[in-house]
Amino acid sequence: MKTILTGIRANSELTLGNYLGALLPMVRLANKHSNEMNVNIFVPDLHSIIAEIDGDLQKNILRTIKYYLAAGLELNENVHIYRQSYVPAHSELCWILNCVALMGEASRMTQFKEKSEGRDSCNVGIFDYPVLMAADILLYSAEYVPIGEDQFQHIELTRNLATRFNNKYGEVFVVPVKTAEQVKFMGISDGVRIRDLLNPEKKMSKSTLAENSKIMLDDDPAKAGKKIMSATTDSLAKVKFDMFNQPGISNLLQIEALVTDTPLQDVIMTWAGETRYGELKKKVAEDVTRMLTDFQARLSRIRDESIYELFEDGEEYANHVASAKLLEVQKAVGLR
Ligand code: TYM
Repeated sequence: MKTILTGIRANSELTLGNYLGALLPMVRLANKHSNEMNVNIFVPDLHSIIAEIDGDLQKNILRTIKYYLAAGLELNENVHIYRQSYVPAHSELCWILNCVALMGEASRMTQFKEKSEGRDSCNVGIFDYPVLMAADILLYSAEYVPIGEDQFQHIELTRNLATRFNNKYGEVFVVPVKTAEQVKFMGISDGVRIRDLLNPEKKMSKSTLAENSKIMLDDDPAKAGKKIMSATTDSLAKVKFDMFNQPGISNLLQIEALVTDTPLQDVIMTWAGETRYGELKKKVAEDVTRMLTDFQARLSRIRDESIYELFEDGEEYANHVASAKLLEVQKAVGLR
């Protein structure tokens, strides 16, 4: 059986960008394919500790998994939910892949450059985190890794490491499909990058200070609607999907498509030629408000105990699969 795999760090509350760019696409894919594929959803808690953690890590971990359920994830025997640090093979494979990865390629990772920029010193974990991510994926032979556009470079790194390893030591790893095919599998025309509402040239990020630039999943839904109403647009007075020249309007069209589960092309057609941005904003604000209201209601009904039960089964499965793959790797490099 093929495997779909993804993870979201549990450092803080998530943004609408995480939700629409990663969580919701994963839930939709999982529900569509979990009859014929393994669906691995894990919390990369070792990735969390490379940076500051807002609040309590344990609570954040539980909340992250609750988000998938509140977003509509349907469970069955092919859906596996686990914590990265409960499967020691991840760290071990990371070390072995460190010896295959090159300093140059790791230094080129945009996320590393962004996260280390302007800092006097930066921990080695920030530098090495894409290699750990490659281990997360390769241990489970996952071909499909639904993620937002900012993580695409890490998929390419994973593919390069897997191919280099296979060339040197024999065919051990399944190489995940190229990002262009990942996008096709996700059913979207391009990578999703939800933009900052005030400064749409940038991606929406939890670390941006201005409150109105981002929507957090625990925002009061009505307040979230107001943030959409105050989003930066342009003075061209023509609704058109053009991320380069009209990023603000294009971002609203993208949000509308994902929130209402409508193909982006259909949303673009519906609004083509509209000159009043206020009308579009009102519709997106209403749909985001409704989505958040429903999401938060479902979230409040999920108990902590039910998540611990999922971890128990998921971690048993993950350790089984990951240790078998690790042993294959250890044998290939001569450690066993
Ligand atoms: P993380 O936790 O930074 O981000 C989680 C997911 O959210 C997506 N995302 C966005 N998508 C669209 N628009 C935005 N504004 C936006 N902001 C964030 C990210 O692309 C990501 O998919 N290294 C990963 C976690 C990870 C992982 C893995 C993922 C570790 N191991 C293995 C997949 C497979 C990370 O730091 O994501």
